[in-house]
Amino acid sequence: MRKILITTPIYYVNDKPHIGHAYTTLAADVLTRFFRAQGKEVFFLTGTDEHGAKIAEVAEKVGKTPKEICDENSEKFKKAWQNLEIKYDYFIRTTDKRHEEAVKKFVEKLKEKNAIYEKEYEGLYCVGCEKFLTEKDLVDGLCPYHKRKPEIISEKNYFFKLDLKAVKELIKTKKLKISPARAESEVLGLLNQGLDDFSISRQKERVKWGIDLPFDKNQIIYVWIDALLNYISAIGYGDNEKEFKKWWVDAHVIHLLAKDILKFHAVYWPAMLLSVGIKNPDEEFIHGFFTINGQKMSKTLGNFVDPNNLVEKYGADVIRYFLLREVSSFEDGDFSEKRLRERYNSDLSQGLGNLLSRILALGEQFGKEIPLSLADSSIVNVALATKKEYSQLMYQFRFNDALAKTWSLLGEGDKLISWSKPWEKMKEEKEFQKIMGSLIFLLGNVALMIAPAMPKISDEILIALQLKDVPFSSWSEKKISLKKREQLFPKLD
Ligand code: MSP
Repeated sequence: MRKILITTPIYYVNDKPHIGHAYTTLAADVLTRFFRAQGKEVFFLTGTDEHGAKIAEVAEKVGKTPKEICDENSEKFKKAWQNLEIKYDYFIRTTDKRHEEAVKKFVEKLKEKNAIYEKEYEGLYCVGCEKFLTEKDLVDGLCPYHKRKPEIISEKNYFFKLDLKAVKELIKTKKLKISPARAESEVLGLLNQGLDDFSISRQKERVKWGIDLPFDKNQIIYVWIDALLNYISAIGYGDNEKEFKKWWVDAHVIHLLAKDILKFHAVYWPAMLLSVGIKNPDEEFIHGFFTINGQKMSKTLGNFVDPNNLVEKYGADVIRYFLLREVSSFEDGDFSEKRLRERYNSDLSQGLGNLLSRILALGEQFGKEIPLSLADSSIVNVALATKKEYSQLMYQFRFNDALAKTWSLLGEGDKLISWSKPWEKMKEEKEFQKIMGSLIFLLGNVALMIAPAMPKISDEILIALQLKDVPFSSWSEKKISLKKREQLFPKLD
């Protein structure tokens, strides 16, 4: 079975993380947990992008060195991920010596392959995006994302010869699969329209904070080249061939990102890899933006939502659930705390928490064991079929739909209680045990399905149902005596 490498973009350390960054990292964590539950070996990579003009600019503003800013802010990302129960395998920082060496090695390779040349260039540079924009990209003369005026930059740089044909072939043959289809069409559109070669270096006079270009001491390696290479430097490119083969060459590689950096990942990165003969990633999942009143979240716009505050108020699992459930994984979606509280009350408190409480109360009142083998086969089949559909949705990165599917199974539990009225059947022991066995089987499966998104809550439910650490294949041998516990999700006012 192929191993899986899951990556997130490495985030700029000009600031602390917001819920947009949290979403991508959470999606990677959820996929990692899901694939592991399917018996697959997974490596989950995230980190921070620490070089470039943007970081240098912020450092200067607050009177610190760029390295100090990087150290402070990369810690904030680590802390936020810890608060959100996100468990990555490796956190790369582009200021790591190991990464810097790998980047130098890669650009030397580009030179060796004759893939770069020197050119005088003039263009409009947005420091916020760390890229050149064209007049067409601007709205009222400003970068549409950062609302700032790009600088006119004219300098001599090294350029990478873009081979668009090879990239197109890769995408068209689905060797590099881009989802959703809309993102794939966008990339093919870009490829058809044609793109200029891009610079891989900046003059040191202008940008000092970066990795030296090994063959020209007046140049710094362009921050995007530096950044993209994290995906391979982190897993051994340049210094550990065995690891690199294991987690890149022979693995199924999945990049997660939002549409703002699609061109870098679906055009430039594949072209770079092709030019030196390294295998390309297998899949890229492009999700939408979290917006606030329809606008992209950013510090500049002052609509920044800090995930730490939300976790402190509601707990990690609630935030994890809400971020994944509320917006479609392929579309933009608005964040609002009001919606969060509504969903908490409806889906979690009245939905999941209430079903658990009812089952436990009935079980405790009954006072005897409930053999799971008595679960009704029609309910067992519904649960298994739902779990299968859920898995298919997870493979397609449709987290919100997978959770909706899970809640449809919960709904079946509520229906079963309403029509079978178990409280009237306690005296007909066998009949009662059959209903309860079905309910426990059903809710136990819900707990397994929510495990990637809500690991702690899933455990609590499995503990309450006495199914924690019981392999699914031996559930039918279990005899269960239930006891009430405190509400999983007390209602919010
Ligand atoms: N440093 C580059 C990425 C280099 S990867 C080789 C960068 N950093 S970033 O800090 O700006 O992060 C961009 C990514 O953060 C997006 O692609 C997305 O994954 C996530 N998000 C940032 N804002 C977001 C929203 N408002 N909504 C959803 N995700 C967003 O670009």
